[in-house]
Amino acid sequence: MSYRVPFIDPKEHYRKLKSEIDFAFTDTLSKGDLVLRQQLRDFEARLADYCGVKYAVGVNSCYHALHFSLLAAGVGPGHEVITVAHTFAATVSAIVHAGAKPVLVEVRSDYNMDPDAFEKAITPRTKAVIPVHLNGRVCEMDRIEAIAAKHGIAVIEDAAQALGAQHKGRRAGSFGVAGCFSFYPFKSLGGLGDGGAVTTNDPEVARMATLLRFNGEDRQTGDFHYHGYTALLDNVNAAILDVKLKHFDEFVAHRRSTARLYHDLLRDVKEIERPHFDGDGYFDTFQNYVIRTSQRDQLRQYMKEQGVETLVHWAKPMWSYPGLKLPDPKLPYTESVCREVISLPMSAETTTEHVQITVQVITDFFARNSQEKPLAAGTRD
Ligand SMILES: Cc1ncc(COP(=O)(O)O)c(C=O)c1O
Repeated sequence: MSYRVPFIDPKEHYRKLKSEIDFAFTDTLSKGDLVLRQQLRDFEARLADYCGVKYAVGVNSCYHALHFSLLAAGVGPGHEVITVAHTFAATVSAIVHAGAKPVLVEVRSDYNMDPDAFEKAITPRTKAVIPVHLNGRVCEMDRIEAIAAKHGIAVIEDAAQALGAQHKGRRAGSFGVAGCFSFYPFKSLGGLGDGGAVTTNDPEVARMATLLRFNGEDRQTGDFHYHGYTALLDNVNAAILDVKLKHFDEFVAHRRSTARLYHDLLRDVKEIERPHFDGDGYFDTFQNYVIRTSQRDQLRQYMKEQGVETLVHWAKPMWSYPGLKLPDPKLPYTESVCREVISLPMSAETTTEHVQITVQVITDFFARNSQEKPLAAGTRD
């Protein structure tokens, strides 16, 4: 189905950068640079610099970035790793595949980990914590870092949705042992397909991720140091990501002004809760612009009928999928969030007209359903 307002517009994204992307693509291919070449090294250096860390290691997904970071932090059987249930399955699966037990805790109204809930969940078996910076907003990292340091717990950031986002002047990916990024095409820095990276200041973490992504092999000596994985970031993908990273601050500025426009135009729609916007040392990059309403599913259906594409990140908490075999941690706030969130069209290509149409459709929906009561929780600017 083609939408009047698409959630993202990859064709337009490509059109805008076509000459630079085409050059990077043909240059890389004509040099035969397919695996582990200069383009990957250049992208890693630019990414590390952007995040404010010493090393970035390109891998083929944020999932693998998380898994390798957990292994580098020494996480294994008998350990517990604390994270949230309001996240993508990959966060939790990485913990399970590392052999540890995921301990799921509550989020707050900005959809990020509640530091108090993290502290309460700590046991002698807790080895690491994975705060997830959702929707382009960094968790309250100064508190999470302080709690982790007090208890000797490794901090691994799930920064899949937060490249460029900041808390108190520090960028996502520069806190803790390692930061884990995704370059899946829907992400604010989106590549050709799957892609990801580990960022770190620790040379040992960087070395381990570098070996694990290539089946444990040290490419200089040919020696195998671990049972690793086939999980390298492809060279062509890295070359294109490097082009986009040079423009990334423009993408972020556009997302922020789009979010500001949503924020202003939705101000009088009392039936929804708008997301937090900066404040208290936060710099948000709006991977998603997420609103809440108790009529989420009806609103989403109406928007679809009116040609506005939306997504839900995510409709159910992770423990509610029987196949994942996770115990129910009884997190009522997370459950309510999953029932009520809806992500509006948002990308570096979203236009003022897209926002105006989207807001008009939302306004029309609630005008037709005017018996709806406002949410109890207030909206913060
Ligand atoms: C919060 C979060 N964590 C992890 C991931 C996994 O990223 P990838 O698809 O690159 O493995 C995603 C992707 O959607 C995500 O949104």
